[in-house]
Amino acid sequence: MMKTVKNSYLLMILSLFFMISCSKKEDVLAESESNIVQEETKLMESPIKIEQTLPENEGLKLIETSDCLSCHQMDKKIVGPSYQNVAEKYTESDIDQLAKKIIDGGKGNWGEVAMIPHSGLSKEDAQKMVRYILSLKK
Ligand code: HEC
Repeated sequence: MMKTVKNSYLLMILSLFFMISCSKKEDVLAESESNIVQEETKLMESPIKIEQTLPENEGLKLIETSDCLSCHQMDKKIVGPSYQNVAEKYTESDIDQLAKKIIDGGKGNWGEVAMIPHSGLSKEDAQKMVRYILSLKK
C-alpha cells in the first residue's frame, strides 16, 4: 500500500517536471518564431530603404563620371568648396537653385572663383548630384 502511494507521488512529480520543461520549450519555440517574423519584416522593409537612397547613389555615380571631382573633394576645399561644406550651408529647399547653379555655372557664394557651366547636364541629373552632396551633412 505505502509503496503504491509513494510511486504515484513520484509519478506526479515527474509529470510536473515534464510539463514544466515542455512549456519552456514552447516558449523558446514561440520566441524563435517571433524572431523569424521580425527578420521577415526587416527583409520586407529593406528594398524600400534601398529605393529611398537610390537618388543619392545615382548622384554619386554621376559626380564620379563627370568633371566635378577635379574641382571638388568631399572633405577638403580645392578649387571649389568641399561637398561637406556645401551640405552644411544648404537644405532640401535649395536643391532646385543648386542644380541650376551646376548647369549655369557662376561665382559669388564661396568667393570670386567661378564654377564652369555644365550645359549638357539635365536638370534631373543635376538634382540627383545635389541630393548626394546634401546627404553628406553631418
Ligand atoms: C572648374 C572647377 C569646377 C568644376 C569642374 C565643378 N565645380 Fe562646383 N564649384 C566650383 C566653384 C569655384 C564653386 C564656388 C562658386 C561660388 O562661389 O558661388 C562651386 C560651387 C559648387 C556648388 C555650390 C554652389 C553654391 O552656389 O553654393 C555645388 C553644389 C557644386 N559646385 C557642385 C558641382 C558639381 C555637381 C560639379 C560636377 C558636375 C561641379 N560642381 C563641378 C568649381 C567647380
